[in-house]
Amino acid sequence: MPANPPVMQAVIQDGYGAPERVLQLAETEVPSIGVGDVLVRVRATSVNTPDWATVAGAPYIMRPGIGLRRPRRPVRGSDIAGVVQAVGQNVTDLAPGDEVLGSTRNHAGAFAQYAAAPATQLASKPAGLSFTDAAASVMCGLTALVAVRDVARVSAGTRVLVNGASGGVGTMAVQIARTLGAEVTGVCGTGSIELVRSLGADHLIDYTKEDFTQSRQRFDVILDNVLNHPPTAVVRALAPGGTFIPNSLGYTGGLFAGLPRMARAVLMGLGPASVKTVTPAMTRENLAALLRLLESGQVKVVIAQTYPLGQAARAVTHMLAHHPGGKIAITV
Ligand SMILES: NC(=O)c1ccc[n+]([C@@H]2O[C@H](COP(=O)([O-])OP(=O)(O)OC[C@H]3O[C@@H](n4cnc5c(N)ncnc54)[C@H](OP(=O)(O)O)[C@@H]3O)[C@@H](O)[C@H]2O)c1
Repeated sequence: MPANPPVMQAVIQDGYGAPERVLQLAETEVPSIGVGDVLVRVRATSVNTPDWATVAGAPYIMRPGIGLRRPRRPVRGSDIAGVVQAVGQNVTDLAPGDEVLGSTRNHAGAFAQYAAAPATQLASKPAGLSFTDAAASVMCGLTALVAVRDVARVSAGTRVLVNGASGGVGTMAVQIARTLGAEVTGVCGTGSIELVRSLGADHLIDYTKEDFTQSRQRFDVILDNVLNHPPTAVVRALAPGGTFIPNSLGYTGGLFAGLPRMARAVLMGLGPASVKTVTPAMTRENLAALLRLLESGQVKVVIAQTYPLGQAARAVTHMLAHHPGGKIAITV
């Protein structure tokens, strides 16, 4: 077994605010692992909403939980793909040298050369899948999979609308719903229309020209990754018995403007509309199901741009513009 290096390069967050100001590449200790953990030499990671939200330290209400002046866990990132460096004594089915993908301990620590992850949150990476695609598929792919397959229970002929169809979650959701035989409507901006069409969406709505909540069309499922409309308006676009999945902290109309909308939407679940949230479990079973879709070629990971670890701040800034056109990946 190779000896664990004592120090590594990682992107350390000191304070909250603009990524370029608070994120710096620096030397730090390699994380220790528990008996059920795996130390992974990270080859790629990707940026997700919780990463940029923690960099911004917004909304303020979450600061007592994550650290008042700076985050208690200073390294961002949860998606990882890489090579096993060492395993805890209870891990019997992974060994140094294995290529894996999955999610880090406590959704942190991935923007680094080495990261610790519970073995239960890792799966073997298929040889044909690149480290970049593998890492970028994890959080958004599992969110889309659980939303479409388990929460919405989409099947052949289900009319699914995906708002934010061109983002990390949306690009996955459009494709996964299509594999289940759904009739998919993708809502995105003008510059993303061709991308979402290429993913197999049956119908496209350009949000700069048309408001889907004002259309006469009705949908069995609305997966809303943007929450830029009042929940009452979204629910009106549902067919009887339809399901509304509000899946966004919201960032149109002000950062986190969607939080109160989300709360209202969840409360509306007590009424006639079926409002359900999605909490994807980072389990081996879910990772295996996602990998089957990726390996079969039915679903592909859309990488909008890749940054080296030293430019992680630029990667987070890119995400903060909210028009990534797929996933923003970081290679290590
Ligand atoms: N439940 C969970 O565990 C979980 C996990 C991951 C993410 N999420 C949530 O899912 C949401 C989406 O995440 P993501 O990674 O897919 O985000 P993303 O990659 O940043 O995508 C943003 C999407 O929003 C669209 N958009 C931006 N501005 C808009 C506007 N003014 N009006 C309408 N649409 C607009 C973009 O469309 P264009 O680029 O085409 O303009 C794009 O499709 C986040 O809010 C996040 O909190 C939840």
